[in-house]
Amino acid sequence: MSERFDAVEVIRTKRDKGRLSDEQIAWVIDAYTRGVVADEQMSALAMAILLNGMDRAEISRWTAAMIASGERMDFSGLSRPTADKHSTGGVGDKITLPLAPLVAACGVAVPQLSGRGLGHTGGTLDKLESIPGWQASLSNEDMMRQLEEVGAVICAAGSGLAPADKKLYALRDVTGTVEAIPLIASSIMSKKIAEGTGALVLDVKVGSGAFMKDVDSAKELAETMVGLGTDAGVTTVALLTNMQVPLGLTAGNALEVRESVEVLEGGGPEDVVELTIELAREMLKAAGKEDIDPADALADGRAMDVWRAMISAQGGDPDAELPTAKETHDVLAPADGLLTQLDAYQVGLAAWRLGAGRARKEDPVQAAAGVVMHAKPGATVRSGEPLLTLHTDTPERFERALEALDGAFTIGPEGSRPDLLPLVIDRVAE
Ligand code: URA
Repeated sequence: MSERFDAVEVIRTKRDKGRLSDEQIAWVIDAYTRGVVADEQMSALAMAILLNGMDRAEISRWTAAMIASGERMDFSGLSRPTADKHSTGGVGDKITLPLAPLVAACGVAVPQLSGRGLGHTGGTLDKLESIPGWQASLSNEDMMRQLEEVGAVICAAGSGLAPADKKLYALRDVTGTVEAIPLIASSIMSKKIAEGTGALVLDVKVGSGAFMKDVDSAKELAETMVGLGTDAGVTTVALLTNMQVPLGLTAGNALEVRESVEVLEGGGPEDVVELTIELAREMLKAAGKEDIDPADALADGRAMDVWRAMISAQGGDPDAELPTAKETHDVLAPADGLLTQLDAYQVGLAAWRLGAGRARKEDPVQAAAGVVMHAKPGATVRSGEPLLTLHTDTPERFERALEALDGAFTIGPEGSRPDLLPLVIDRVAE
């Protein structure tokens, strides 16, 4: 088959800071998916995009081409509106677990296609797989049935959604081109738009434990994604939220499930509760149900009822004991004072090294591994009391985890104040 364009010409256009035409973009994504554009050519184009950027129309077209590479789901036949949430990833970010049943309990269906963790941030599916019996894979028909009957589904994204992104993301990972905002935004949004949700709330994390280390770049990513969602007819809003410190008091799969259940029981750490309710409010508003207060459904147990139904529908036992680690090791506070800093990235790295995360996508994870925090910045600590407890089934991992935590926390004099961003930093909508 003769090709309409030449990959080298497309690369040169972007290398020389030109604009790619709609036709060039549609062709290059399709030809790459078909294997006509080679990996080395796509790597060069991705690097040219990282260096020279794309405008809003180019990113929209790029996203549309990635969506067109695979199937598109359609939830318009459901009896209730749909809303989904996507987090750009952080340490201790278990918010999806209480959030999906909470929003469903308020009358909005939540089709949450999730992933597994890679590197220092955890994956929602890894967390839920620590519940005995729970299955991540569902057919499209089962997903639709569960959405109608239970209202919430958290499951693995099938291979049919945006296959071009799958191929391109793997390439970016090994060519130093993950960080390009047009490529991150189009990668995330192609999957979310193809998933067919009516409304989308983005939780764009900012800080050491996040992709975006500073507020300006997080805001640019948020604005780009909100623009893409809006252009595709999906009501899209973004919150910029703090990832300088971990969310909640746990990082690790079963540990985070336990903490999420505490939130659904009406307890749990303040920041997890606050962010769950804030994001639920945004999802309900985006789905046209702004008059419903999600705090009520959390307090009266309706969210917990949906959680139990959601876990059971996917083969899990909501009453089963969660796995606990064979070994633990306490990290003690070296002084009296006020905890002023607890670095999210370093805690995430420690949890990962304890076995909670994976280095390659085929690696297994330990369900019970991770870090429990006994204090968060702003708390008074006493010398010799545990600050962190490390959990693992393989104690030879403690040494490397402790190395990851070197310098991870600071204890200041009592009366000092942590210098931290607020939990919710900003909101981006069009
Ligand atoms: N998550 C994605 O799905 N894609 C990216 O490019 C970055 C994070």
